[in-house]
Amino acid sequence: MAKNKKKNNTTQKTQDSAHKVKKQGNQSAASSSPLLFEPLTLRSVTFRNRIWLPPMDMYSAFAQDGKPTSFHYQHYVSRALGGFGAILTEATAVSPEGRISPYDLGLWNDDQIGAWSWIVDGIKQSGAIPAIQLNHAGRKGSSGCSGLGYINASVPPEAGGWQTVGATDTPYNNNFAPSRGLSTQEIQQIVDAFKNAALRARTAGFDMVEIHGAHGYLISQFLDPLINNRTDEYGGSFTNRIRFALEVADAVRGVWPDDLPVIMRISATDWAEGGWDIYQSVELAKALKKHGIDMIDVSTGGMISGVTIPSRPNYQVPFAQEIRSKADLPVTTVGLITKPKQAEKILEEGRADVVEIGRAALRDPYWPLRAAAKLGLDKHQAPYPVQYVRGAYGTRR
Ligand SMILES: Cc1cc2nc3c(=O)[nH]c(=O)nc-3n(C[C@H](O)[C@H](O)[C@H](O)COP(=O)(O)O)c2cc1C
Repeated sequence: MAKNKKKNNTTQKTQDSAHKVKKQGNQSAASSSPLLFEPLTLRSVTFRNRIWLPPMDMYSAFAQDGKPTSFHYQHYVSRALGGFGAILTEATAVSPEGRISPYDLGLWNDDQIGAWSWIVDGIKQSGAIPAIQLNHAGRKGSSGCSGLGYINASVPPEAGGWQTVGATDTPYNNNFAPSRGLSTQEIQQIVDAFKNAALRARTAGFDMVEIHGAHGYLISQFLDPLINNRTDEYGGSFTNRIRFALEVADAVRGVWPDDLPVIMRISATDWAEGGWDIYQSVELAKALKKHGIDMIDVSTGGMISGVTIPSRPNYQVPFAQEIRSKADLPVTTVGLITKPKQAEKILEEGRADVVEIGRAALRDPYWPLRAAAKLGLDKHQAPYPVQYVRGAYGTRR
């Protein structure tokens, strides 16, 4: 990271921050406050800490109109009150066919903006940064979810399903209906849909966009050589397979304000022999950096059906660490990180810049407040809403 002296101001700020994590990692725990609670700045946006809520689809737009409801307000704002530095919303579709399930949220029309602004305001008032994950599900769209059924299978038209489009015609697995490979003209329409959804996200007040390039959804369908057998300029060579990801990055970056960050989530490996891997992920991250992407949210898997994923605590951290050091970009890490000391150690060892807490935050919206107490941070430094300080951990009366 130290070799990067000639960067523009924005990147330099981020680098400084990444350095800070590494440097402080060498100090004794007793002499410094927890790194999890160090602010982080990307472009002009300062996150109050490095504990972020990752995108988690709630599959709860039961009216099938893509609009968030009071459930979503409570879900996101309670976690902002719970002290998270950023709230990354669930996969939000850029077009109706881009939904994972019929109950996904969306930003494909202007009518959806108002319901989002209400949530964005609540998140901001609670001190967290609101970020939206924009997605096109491709061949994994029109699939089931809790509340609807058809889990890991296609939803039939009579239950709200649709003909999916993808990088190719091949379905995700035999439980899915065949997809329809996109023409180059349709690819451009989807690039435009990402751009328009980003514009709407800004109107709603979001400060950061995360492009969903992971988990076997459309962008990663183009990336993976085991999925993408196209013979045009979007298939074959590495340069061709990453073309769609870069076009989406350019389209979003092109309309997103220069002083606000755009990040991308990728699957660093598909866990399959001969498929998408960490080497290609590092090269993709380097390319994304040149296209104005400010951070990589490093996940894995979801691309190839039926592979074995060796999930255990920290199992995705080595991928984040590799991208951080080789592509020289800030990274988030995620996946079975549940304990404050575990999360703190990842930062102390300089393996990531941010830690995301997913399922553990579904059972404990106040995870950051509990972590602050566990790591010995004074309650006045912890991200308590002012109204809650009297109930801070350690308060006797
Ligand atoms: C209910 C649920 C929904 C999820 N939806 C999304 C999503 O919309 N977008 C995404 O990128 N990842 C999604 N994920 C993956 C999470 O962001 C996270 O990477 C994963 O749960 C691992 O982190 P954890 O062990 O802390 O939960 C989802 C996970 C869960 C449990």
